[in-house]
Amino acid sequence: MKLPGYHENLEVLHVGTQPNRSYYIPCNSKNEALSEVREDSSRFISLNGTWDFAYYDAPQLIPEGATQPNHDRSKFDSIPVPSVWQNHGYDRHQYTNVRYPIPYDPPFVPNMNPCGLYVRTLTLNPDSAKNYYLNFEGVDSCLYLYINGTAAGYSQVSHSTSEFDITKYLVSGENTIAVLVLKWCDGTYLEDQDKLRTSGIFRDVYLLERPKAYLRDFFVNTKIQGDDGQVTVAFEYGSEPVETKCTLFDPSGSELESKKATDGSVTFVINKAQLWSPEIPSLYSLIIEANGEIIYQNVGLREIKIEDGIVLFNGAPIKMKGVNRHDSDPVTGPTISIAQATKDLEIMKAHNINAIRTSHYPNAPWFTQLCDKYGFYVIDESDVEIHGVCTIYGGSHADTYCLIAMDERFDESIMDRIQRNVMRDKNCPSVVIWSLGNESGYGPGFEKAARWIKEYDPSRLTHYEGEFWAEKDYEKDKSVLDVMSRMYAPLEWVDEYFEKAEDPRPFVQCEFIHAMGNGPGDAEDNYQQMLKYPGYFGAFVWEWCDHTVYMGKTEDGKDKYFYGGDFGEYPHDGNFCMDGLVYPDRTPHTGLLEYKNVIRPVRATLVEKGVNIRNMLDFLDLRDYVNISYKITCDDKVLDSGDLDVSCSPCETVFVPLDISYPENRNCYIMLEYRQKHDYALTKSGHKLGFDQLILNEAKLKLPELRTAKTDELTLEESETHITITGSAFRYVFDKLLGNFSEIVYRNNTLLTKPVEFNVWRAPTDNDRNIRHQWEEAGYDRPLVKVYETNASLKDSVVKIDFHVGLAAIYRQKILDIKGTWEIDVDGCIVAKMQCKKDMELPFLPRFGLRLFMPRVFDDISYFGYGEYESYVDKRRASYRGLFNSNVADMHEDYIKPQENGSHYGCDFVSVSSKGLTLKAVSSDKFSFNASPYTQEELGTKKHNFELNECGDTVLCLDYKQSGIGSNSCGPELLEEYRFNEENFTFELALIME
Ligand code: GAL
Ligand code: MG
Repeated sequence: MKLPGYHENLEVLHVGTQPNRSYYIPCNSKNEALSEVREDSSRFISLNGTWDFAYYDAPQLIPEGATQPNHDRSKFDSIPVPSVWQNHGYDRHQYTNVRYPIPYDPPFVPNMNPCGLYVRTLTLNPDSAKNYYLNFEGVDSCLYLYINGTAAGYSQVSHSTSEFDITKYLVSGENTIAVLVLKWCDGTYLEDQDKLRTSGIFRDVYLLERPKAYLRDFFVNTKIQGDDGQVTVAFEYGSEPVETKCTLFDPSGSELESKKATDGSVTFVINKAQLWSPEIPSLYSLIIEANGEIIYQNVGLREIKIEDGIVLFNGAPIKMKGVNRHDSDPVTGPTISIAQATKDLEIMKAHNINAIRTSHYPNAPWFTQLCDKYGFYVIDESDVEIHGVCTIYGGSHADTYCLIAMDERFDESIMDRIQRNVMRDKNCPSVVIWSLGNESGYGPGFEKAARWIKEYDPSRLTHYEGEFWAEKDYEKDKSVLDVMSRMYAPLEWVDEYFEKAEDPRPFVQCEFIHAMGNGPGDAEDNYQQMLKYPGYFGAFVWEWCDHTVYMGKTEDGKDKYFYGGDFGEYPHDGNFCMDGLVYPDRTPHTGLLEYKNVIRPVRATLVEKGVNIRNMLDFLDLRDYVNISYKITCDDKVLDSGDLDVSCSPCETVFVPLDISYPENRNCYIMLEYRQKHDYALTKSGHKLGFDQLILNEAKLKLPELRTAKTDELTLEESETHITITGSAFRYVFDKLLGNFSEIVYRNNTLLTKPVEFNVWRAPTDNDRNIRHQWEEAGYDRPLVKVYETNASLKDSVVKIDFHVGLAAIYRQKILDIKGTWEIDVDGCIVAKMQCKKDMELPFLPRFGLRLFMPRVFDDISYFGYGEYESYVDKRRASYRGLFNSNVADMHEDYIKPQENGSHYGCDFVSVSSKGLTLKAVSSDKFSFNASPYTQEELGTKKHNFELNECGDTVLCLDYKQSGIGSNSCGPELLEEYRFNEENFTFELALIME
């Protein structure tokens, strides 16, 4: 089939489309409009559903006449609309991040350009007094439209609405709509977003029936003047103006005023206006009547502006505690229903998130309306990402990032994409910042577009991180971008930015802490930095959800999720698409729980005679939002508890007296719990918003005293290879070649299935993806033990084994030199003291400790430390110090790409039991442990969780320390203070059998 070639022509972006307008659905009556369900409008004809579908490897392979109504479609398949064809057995999935999926040859795309011909009929008796507008809300990557066999237009920009007036092509009776969708077009070079690359009509399609003379567009603007508000609506008409009446209702639904538009606009003044904010999303509503059409529009009164480098929202400084969200579902791909999106918003609300960046394209037009309703700040991003220019041959972020951005042939494409976003979503109060796009370099095209926004919509701020990457000698016009934006900036960089204060603009991190796999580990440190600088108004986690494709269940009933590389595609970026705060099925990662408590609405600190309570909200008094309860405990006994009645204005701190007395040298804490006071649309009263555990006092840790006795209960035997210690209840064997215990038999039960190991390795986390290469270079994944010396003696019924060992990998120098003692008393208590010296030439260590393999029946775990969620030195804000009971299987955190997980930081003891028999580990320093059915080798080598095999043992790692988690899968390197890199350290540990 011959095409006019628009899809490889930068000068033809749209043919036959209507000018951009704001999103709204015209209705016939107020009732229809008030339902806010667009299907209820009798002017809305949904074209979703099953379409005939034929897939071809290239458009040239489509037979001529295939778009004609009389074309024989008996051999066509069928496909649901909306959907992407990769989810229905055509083509294949591909996940690529930066690299383009096609050769770099703009504006051309490969001849073998997969495509789908969608055809359906529509029976209609067009009313000659009406026009018919066909709307596509999202088609990836472009579409050629044919109505009753006639070419009716072309459009691109996947995540934007294309609206065609098809009136003149329609006939009475059956009409045939054919849509040819191509996988690639010149727009592909501007849609290089890091995601699964999918194709097809992936958002809703519908027809609107409208009068010939009609209201085409309107623009709501609000102002706040003291206690009052002002709402102005400006109208734009089709061929001729029509009488327009507007009625404004207050948030409770009472009518305030009705007015006719004069000179194309109408203005309302509201006394004592109720303002919109994410915390109190009060919405007025507007009913617009024009030539028989009724249009409903929510109106939020709010104002965002910058004063002295500080972002003020309704006059108050704010913090956006944000997240980047893609439309992504393991089953439906980028096709997202209102119910799915609402579910995301509900989880976000429940986790204290108040801002969303629509990375990296506009979502369905109703999405920002949901944000209006439920209360989120939105950075609304245009469908522009030109990242792939960095990975052409000889290219890099430093050299070729601006290749397209500096090429004026693309200016119109950039402008088009930005205008489509702004014009469509301009009436949503939640949208407070326009983002030009993501990772596209910088150049005049972006500046022109930003300048256009500033003119078209001065009520909002402009944002674009790409400005940072402008070519060295390019003279930026900083006036067009209101905020300075970075992603993953190291803490030092941000400190320096504020210290230097060269740039007067407020600062945002459109992406910070990277949630891939076990992570992020640096939420608290980054949040603290945001609190420190008034000019630092927001930061957005990368990202909301893991992107995967659901492949059904394995034979043993485990869910199978596929990621990059699992589809045999080239190129691909592996599991880099699984970097969300929630699993694909929306189960929260521990990283989301961490973030939730970091951005909790209240923070408490211990002061003399009470606590200081700080309100972390920007608009609500604490009294109106949270119930605060407290509990003072000592060794898990409750000393006192109650509710605190706290009134505290936004951003303020109040002192709350508390009578706190507690005994010395015991574990005493105050737990403050924050629960939501009222029901909201998405979260209910009583919902836990966060907590603070304040440490009053903690018991000093001691190793147990060894029992000395003048008996001959204990015997010591030594051979060339083994030392055997036998007591009345136990027999322990120490392997002199391994420098460690190979048998622990207690009351005739074997507690070890393999010799104990010195352990420095962990299954690399995604955040270890860089450092792991150094770790592997140093041989941390494969150290051998050299035993220099063991010396056993028996005195006063205590056996003492002095030992000296080294850990080193083949062809590498020694990692650790360990000198120490093992002591065993008559009761079988083992006390180890290890003095370790690390070679500081080598990188910091993943961990150091002992690894025990115990029979799998040892399943009951009890510990005092940071629980109940996995916790690490830098990732432990979802957990608190306490006594927890669990079992080995439940301690596993099931990352889709297996990796280190389930550690518990800051522990006093852990005991592992089976039917009344317990091995208890205690230390004189707080330590970490993991108990897992999987080995670190298994976790480190399997690509998917469904491939994991249990090793048959309970693997118990007792660690002096483990390095932190960080965010280095994409963010900066692990902070120095969280690297385990001590040169000399002593690990003291007792193993008590009971
Ligand atoms: C950023 C980018 C995101 C995503 C992330 C890595 O550079 O803007 O789209 O690719 O890195 O997960
Ligand atoms: Mg990118």
